[in-house]
Amino acid sequence: MVKDISKLRKDFPILDQKMNGEPLVYLDSAATTQKPKQVIDAINNYYLHDNANVHRGVYELSERATNQFEQVREKVRKFINAKSEREIVYTRGTTDGLNMIASTYGEAFIHEGDEIVISYMEHHSNLIPWQQLALRKHAKLKYIDMLDDGELDIEDAKQKITSKTKIVSIAQVSNVLGVINPIKELAELAHKCGAVMVVDAAQSIPHMSVDVQDLDCDFMAFSGHKMLGPTGIGILYGKLNLLDKMEPMEYGGEMINLVDLYDSEWTDVPWKFEAGTQDIAQVIGLGAAIDYLNEIGMDNITQYERSLVDYALPKLLSIKELTVYGPHDPEKHTGVISFNLDNLHPHDLATGLDMEGVAVRAGHHCVQPLMKYLKTPATARASFYLYNNKDDVDRLVDGIIETREFFKNGTI
Ligand code: ALA
Repeated sequence: MVKDISKLRKDFPILDQKMNGEPLVYLDSAATTQKPKQVIDAINNYYLHDNANVHRGVYELSERATNQFEQVREKVRKFINAKSEREIVYTRGTTDGLNMIASTYGEAFIHEGDEIVISYMEHHSNLIPWQQLALRKHAKLKYIDMLDDGELDIEDAKQKITSKTKIVSIAQVSNVLGVINPIKELAELAHKCGAVMVVDAAQSIPHMSVDVQDLDCDFMAFSGHKMLGPTGIGILYGKLNLLDKMEPMEYGGEMINLVDLYDSEWTDVPWKFEAGTQDIAQVIGLGAAIDYLNEIGMDNITQYERSLVDYALPKLLSIKELTVYGPHDPEKHTGVISFNLDNLHPHDLATGLDMEGVAVRAGHHCVQPLMKYLKTPATARASFYLYNNKDDVDRLVDGIIETREFFKNGTI
């Protein structure tokens, strides 16, 4: 368990303020997480003392910046248990990483008649790149069905993943339902058919221990800003033999070995994928975020969030006008809970909660096909992280009840 949550909250100065006259309850960490002072200080410190471009200077300041930049690569490698730090590519975020796989690996290895398998709960970032690739290549996009509670139907996956499948790409955790998908099992199914397994880990990496070798996934993409780090930095993990076969997506800067007038040679993986000046300060900030998470321990974070979901779910389910989407078993869930109040648009519910100082997201959450599947245009969504506590859950539940009463009676 996280030992002293009250001390941990002090690391997040942003939480100590009022919204609409009420103390802020931030329940939108699935969109972006708040940043601890340690991360902000690391970025400040970098700009105050160590700022220089990396891989370009022979002077001490540049070498210092380069060392810090490359040390974070090793930190990320360790964090996800990749075999080599050369399997860690810096990107701008999950969307960038997934687009990179589709437009480099996909472009080279998907042909007419091939199949790509995804699911209805994929974020647009893990849907549109495959959809557009399939359209360009005359390949077929297939969707794994879901069970009634929002879990992936693994029996359907066994039918849909066939010898024609070349890519299976699935979110480890849904950004709407919070459901945890069986990546290891899916990777086994994909590999039996000769396909590669791509994982959108945007919503899993911040909340649980992830081991790419144990999962045996071929690619994984995630974002720094959802794991206490800054925006503008993400990671693409890829098995070295696959990255080696891929062409760069962008050209320029230090991604070359040799440039001649009419042709060029690329440098080694991963640097051949890192064109132009990189987001150096953001990389340093990501390193500080990983240090912070490691200090608490990913298993402790999972357990703590589960205790919040354990506390929240029965309370939410007891509001009879509230539909709670996704599995109702906390074991199958991270701290993401989507819901709707009968007869109320989720934007009205989110606005009502905002009046109580409670920040939740409302909308289609960039997963329109899932909304169609759930037969709703939108949902409200609360997402918890390590700086939330049971008081925050109580404020959410009270806020929903007060909003319900307000819209029912025009008063609370
Ligand atoms: N993908 C982020 C979310 O689900 C932005 O809110």
